[in-house]
Amino acid sequence: MPKDFVSLGDWSSDELRGLLDRARELKDLWKRGERPRTLEGRTLALYFEKPSLRTHVTFEAGMAQLGGHAILLRPEQVGIGTRESPPDVARNLSRWVDGLVARTFSHALIEELARVASIPVINALSDYLHPCQVLADLQTVAERADLRKTSIAYVGDGNNMAHSLLLGCAVLGVELRLATPKTHQPAPSVRRRADQLAESSGAKLSWFEDPVEAVRDAAFIYTDVWTSMGQEDEVDARRKVFSAYQVNEALVAHAPEAWILHCLPAHRGEEITDAVLDGPRSIVFDQAENRLHAQKAVLETLLGPRR
Ligand code: CP
Ligand code: NVA
Repeated sequence: MPKDFVSLGDWSSDELRGLLDRARELKDLWKRGERPRTLEGRTLALYFEKPSLRTHVTFEAGMAQLGGHAILLRPEQVGIGTRESPPDVARNLSRWVDGLVARTFSHALIEELARVASIPVINALSDYLHPCQVLADLQTVAERADLRKTSIAYVGDGNNMAHSLLLGCAVLGVELRLATPKTHQPAPSVRRRADQLAESSGAKLSWFEDPVEAVRDAAFIYTDVWTSMGQEDEVDARRKVFSAYQVNEALVAHAPEAWILHCLPAHRGEEITDAVLDGPRSIVFDQAENRLHAQKAVLETLLGPRR
């Protein structure tokens, strides 16, 4: 079992299935009003360089629900790289708390924190990956389909979401059909790793430029914002590049049975229309709900006595 949850590509299919099974159990327990206190006395530091609703609340609430405690750290308080070097911050935190959740601009910073810290480090989103989101997404997909017999079409930017979806689907043997403009494809490093993983899992990964080809008959359609956090200067250019990639009623008509996924927050009217996001096939709030349970499974597995 890896020490950290930095990339889904570091976890085996059995390990990811174990997390998904535990996430489902934790959700069932929660719905029945049962509250296992498996992280009694454990403390988690949360470090966020970017805004967050879902990730922050679900980690903090998840720790409290499991009997533990979370401490929110703001970058201006800690001054990683200005007031103190990343390795020294990691060494200090390792002496006090049981785990660190970090949302950073730079993926290299999360990797450095994970390398130096003796405690588990959990990636709460970097410019490169968003594994916590995709774990919850795969839990959501598994609630409606057999992961090895279904297909997800991802439409839009080849960004952190696309990267983690590629890795998660490749590990677990899920078919993923990606439609991105040529100029905004996933990073070659992620493609290579996903192709390697897919060879052993049997996952079918296919690449398209035309969103219609990607979504045709897909069981799930996934999209994410065209302008990610930190790219606000590019918003006008990105609106042009992605204008043919909107998930709207015309596009989903090519897969009328498909369930609609979005990690949120949505830029309504850009990558997705209100009609689709609020429509009868949208399960975006199930995804958001599952963030809580998927992350509780990660926390228990990495910080708890089950490890
Ligand atoms: N999907 C997601 O990570 O949401 P937040 O940015 O609000 O945490
Ligand atoms: N790609 C988006 C995901 C937000 C959850 C971003 O990085 O802003």
